[in-house]
Amino acid sequence: MAKIRPSKGAPYARILGVGGYRPTRVVPNEVILEKIDSSDEWIRSRSGIETRHWAGPEETVAAMSIEAAGKAIADSGIDADRIGAVVVSTVSHFSQTPAVATEIAHKLGTDKAAAFDISAGCAGFGYGLTLAKGMVVEGSAEYVLVIGVERLSDLTDLEDRATAFLFGDGAGAVVVGPSQEPAIGPTVWGSEGDKAGTIKQTVTWDRFHVGDVSELPLDSEGNIKFPAITQEGQAVFRWAVFEMAKVAQQALDAAGITSDDLDVFIPHQANVRIIDSMVKTLKLPEHVTVARDIRTTGNTSAASIPLAMERLLATGEAKSGDTALVIGFGAGLVYAATVVTLP
Ligand SMILES: CC(C)(COP(=O)(O)OP(=O)(O)OC[C@H]1O[C@@H](n2cnc3c(N)ncnc32)[C@H](O)[C@@H]1OP(=O)(O)O)[C@@H](O)C(=O)NCCC(=O)NCCS
Repeated sequence: MAKIRPSKGAPYARILGVGGYRPTRVVPNEVILEKIDSSDEWIRSRSGIETRHWAGPEETVAAMSIEAAGKAIADSGIDADRIGAVVVSTVSHFSQTPAVATEIAHKLGTDKAAAFDISAGCAGFGYGLTLAKGMVVEGSAEYVLVIGVERLSDLTDLEDRATAFLFGDGAGAVVVGPSQEPAIGPTVWGSEGDKAGTIKQTVTWDRFHVGDVSELPLDSEGNIKFPAITQEGQAVFRWAVFEMAKVAQQALDAAGITSDDLDVFIPHQANVRIIDSMVKTLKLPEHVTVARDIRTTGNTSAASIPLAMERLLATGEAKSGDTALVIGFGAGLVYAATVVTLP
């Protein structure tokens, strides 16, 4: 049997740079109220959301990703041609094949980087980060670009009062590269497919294509509704509040730290009440900065954690070298939590 030379990676991996892109159009709750029976007060108090961004025609999944990734690369201080892999987490890129990651890798000027998309809902950033860390340490790429990007406005039923106000668009990106010290802790991740039905697409693409009005949901004008994300809000809320606090604690334990050692908490931005409840359950000390980017960004699924991270660093609420707990959770149901050193 031939002896195969092992690949050689870095001792550890770290996040070297972060970047975000928010579409130019800011959408206040008043716009949402045009189509549903609700109120600004209800939306603010039940979800925390005041405004969100909706992408225009030019702000495609690829275009937003390139903007966010360009900033992350500049922030990391490396040249784009040193990126060995591009991982794009999204559920709202409408071309089944090829992966949008290949177009992004090319347009950013990487040197033929490996490029692929992943689908892990609102845990997508943590899934991508875990893959990136593995690649850097294993040696298949020296630098990895991880992008979380969504145009959830395309998948939102504006007549569904349970979800119309929740979602937003945007892209967040990080560059992961070699480190001499551990700067991305062990990931606590998993899936609970028995709850797959709690967040799902209203109609699958093949059923939508058949276009049978007797079977498909119609809008108020009698047109077949475009597929959208629907969820059992209360069931997901309860799961997030009870189960995800446990996962967050497991990630702290796995990293060998306690909440006292934390500087920053960046949970998935799904609902400010879920965030507040996790802060309470985890007994986070006063000094921990908590991301509440949901107020002005809404739920951007895979983009929410890197967008929140970028904003905390940009506003000075968090600083380079801070220890942050990140946790994503959503459709699947899936989750991923880890402790990282901020770039
Ligand atoms: C969606 C969500 C904000 C709804 O909040 P909620 O407190 O659970 O609301 P409920 O669905 O229990 O509805 C409570 C009441 O408000 C009403 N209501 C629902 N949507 C409303 C709206 N948009 N405006 C006004 N009232 C509304 C309901 O009809 C209900 O009225 P009732 O008590 O008279 O029956 C919340 O469930 C949530 O955030 N879920 C988790 C979301 C999440 O994490 N998703 C993950 C995806 S990544």
